[in-house]
Amino acid sequence: MTGHVIAGPGGNPTSGLSFAPANTSVALHGAAEPIDPAPSLARLVGGDLRVPCLDGTERQYINLDFAASTPALPAVAEAVTAFMPWYSSVHRGAGFKSRRSTDAYESARATALAFSGGDPERDVAIICRNTTEAINHLTYRLALDRQDVVLTTVVEHHANLLPWGRVATRRYVECETDGTFTLEAVIAGLRDNPRPKILAITGASNVSGWLPPLDDIIDAAHEHGVRVVLDAAQLAPHHPIPLAADFVALSGHKLYAPYGSGVLVGPRSTFAEGEPFLAGGGAVDLVDLDEVVWSAPPERDEAGSPNVVGAVAMEASMAEIGRIGWGSIEAHEAALANRMREGLDHIEGVRLLGPPPGSQAPTLAVAAFVVDGVHHALVAARLSAEWGIGVRHGCFCAHPYLMRLLGLGPTHVALYRDEVRRGDHRNMPGAVRASCGLSTTTAEIDSLLGAVRLIAADAAAGTAPPVPYEQDPATGDFWPVANLPGWSAAERSAGTSCARG
Ligand SMILES: Cc1ncc(COP(=O)(O)O)c(C=O)c1O
Repeated sequence: MTGHVIAGPGGNPTSGLSFAPANTSVALHGAAEPIDPAPSLARLVGGDLRVPCLDGTERQYINLDFAASTPALPAVAEAVTAFMPWYSSVHRGAGFKSRRSTDAYESARATALAFSGGDPERDVAIICRNTTEAINHLTYRLALDRQDVVLTTVVEHHANLLPWGRVATRRYVECETDGTFTLEAVIAGLRDNPRPKILAITGASNVSGWLPPLDDIIDAAHEHGVRVVLDAAQLAPHHPIPLAADFVALSGHKLYAPYGSGVLVGPRSTFAEGEPFLAGGGAVDLVDLDEVVWSAPPERDEAGSPNVVGAVAMEASMAEIGRIGWGSIEAHEAALANRMREGLDHIEGVRLLGPPPGSQAPTLAVAAFVVDGVHHALVAARLSAEWGIGVRHGCFCAHPYLMRLLGLGPTHVALYRDEVRRGDHRNMPGAVRASCGLSTTTAEIDSLLGAVRLIAADAAAGTAPPVPYEQDPATGDFWPVANLPGWSAAERSAGTSCARG
């Protein structure tokens, strides 16, 4: 990898840590201290892992990347281990193990339906890979015409933007500079002609963590005769899903069940006619060479052998979340959100994106921020390599929203588009995102705040990082130039392109 180098003290990028001033590499960030586990709401698999840092020590990993993917709850890993001896084909075998597997799968389906606010009389749960697949399935199944309008918002993740553009005409609810929009703005979009057929909206932003006023929005859509598709990928791990949504999509890997399953819930009638998105075995009752009788829902939309292990995992996580209770989860995460967002907002040289702390707009325990004068990828690389803190950086698969939060307009975007088409990602704008979950502690938040404070202070003082970092033009990512366990040049491939959109 050749690329742009942020020189560390000594300025020679090839010799890594030996160019840091003597004896300062450890002292710079303090000794590796054990994290106080007391305020954590739940232990998660891998929660006590230690990771190598540039000072040569190992630190307890601080996972602040729950909005990307969550580690498994122990109850989930245990349920999967207990199920594995019984693992067999689903709806495809007469053997006892197949019966057990089929039972487990159907039990998971019923749990997913209830968790997603579905009505067993009216709705079906289709088990799929993740939210992206669920929304793609649905856009195909709604039998929309290209002229039909789907009202969506500029806050959406690409998963709830791009699939709609393939099958219909999109209309967008714009956001304010703080990344929020009002109920009135949604109503204006609902009233505009031609009237939309569908409102596709996120339950929570994966960038700013903002929670739109969903109940009111869903009511307003229904008053205008518009059905609501809820992208619950970010909402589902943190708050109950509103019962009134017509369609719900979510991912198990964001819900402490990282075994490759997700769910799409919606009225049985939507899936009772027409061809499914995927054609194949398991979705049919009778096939001859030029005619097919499709199965009834939900099987009609589940062609191919299903992911029963993922379904078992998702059921276990939903049950465990039920045991922990929404009250405890919401209280725990509200405290974390306050501490993290207020804390970042108070650091000189740090700009928090989205609604400011103290505003009326509620958010998840998620914070997207930029540090003045420091590339977002370098902030993330330093947090990882020097402090053992895992965050995400980049545009978070929500490019239109991030450009708005950063105050960048079409001219900037055109410039980045040209550079990206040439394979150069160095100047891609972006932010750093820290996101919390069940196991997050206040001590972990404080570690993040301390580290960001130092990075911002370094930038303000013009102080170089303790080691040089090199940027890969092809990915935009930074990598420390250090020959240490976990951070040698040979290990770079594992760290590349961590900001994919
Ligand atoms: C709000 C939102 N919607 C949809 C998705 C897509 O989820 P998946 O990658 O599991 O399909 C994500 C993932 O980050 C998300 O945050």
